Amino acid sequence: MLNTAISAARKAGAITLRYFETSVAREVKEDKSFFTVADKEAEAAIISEIKKEFPDHGIVCEESGEEKSASAFQWVIDPLDGTGNFVNGIPLFSVSIAALKDGVPVAAVVYQPVGDSLYTAEQGKGTQWRGKRVRVSGGDAEHAMITFGPGKKEKERLNRLFSLTEQCVKSKRYLGCAALELAYIARGGTEGFLCFGLNKWDYAAGVLLVAEAGGRITDLLGKPWVFGSSNYFIASNGAVHETLLALAARG
Ligand code: IPD
Ligand code: CA
Ligand code: CA
Repeated sequence: MLNTAISAARKAGAITLRYFETSVAREVKEDKSFFTVADKEAEAAIISEIKKEFPDHGIVCEESGEEKSASAFQWVIDPLDGTGNFVNGIPLFSVSIAALKDGVPVAAVVYQPVGDSLYTAEQGKGTQWRGKRVRVSGGDAEHAMITFGPGKKEKERLNRLFSLTEQCVKSKRYLGCAALELAYIARGGTEGFLCFGLNKWDYAAGVLLVAEAGGRITDLLGKPWVFGSSNYFIASNGAVHETLLALAARG
């Protein structure tokens, strides 16, 4: 399954690159987020690649919705995570593909086309970045950079937490691409990510990258988080986890 996900992500990534830094038309969805022809074409390419190999698996995609199946396997796909960045010519966007077995991610790919940066993970086999095994950083709060993934309804909470963040970690960012933000933790780049109400396709692949790289994921109260339980969670390198739980409790 991982090889299929890699090949699908590379095809989708090539499609997005063809439209990047062009004046591609933006369409606006009900929730006010953007989508473009690049999102749609990339999604179609991924679905066709998966169906060739696994015609009986279920599929959930951001743009075209869910195709149910009786199979234990289901693919969760965001063909272009970070469309807001993409349409503004900012290279922080990615393709995110996760394969789930019985509702749990078992294979994951996050691919950033600009820079040809490929992250992969398989359950029990670790996380790789550009073909090499990676792990989360050991960075403590004093040196930590954390990022925020707010859902559409969480802007106010984000703003509150954003100002409080300065008291407890070195730096903070809102990068607008949840899949990459989780990948950055997995490769030891950043230290934590607070997810407030995103959709499962935003993080299905990224959470496996973090878990397989030795990171920690809990709900906002510190209880173990399992995929599907909630779309509010904290992912971190472990070292800053308690700091982030204390932060979330204040917001
Ligand atoms: C968005 C990104 C972003 C998050 C937004 C999502 P999209 O996904 O994941 O980080 O803050 O809420 O909608 O729409 O670019 O696929
Ligand atoms: Ca997304
Ligand atoms: Ca998307």
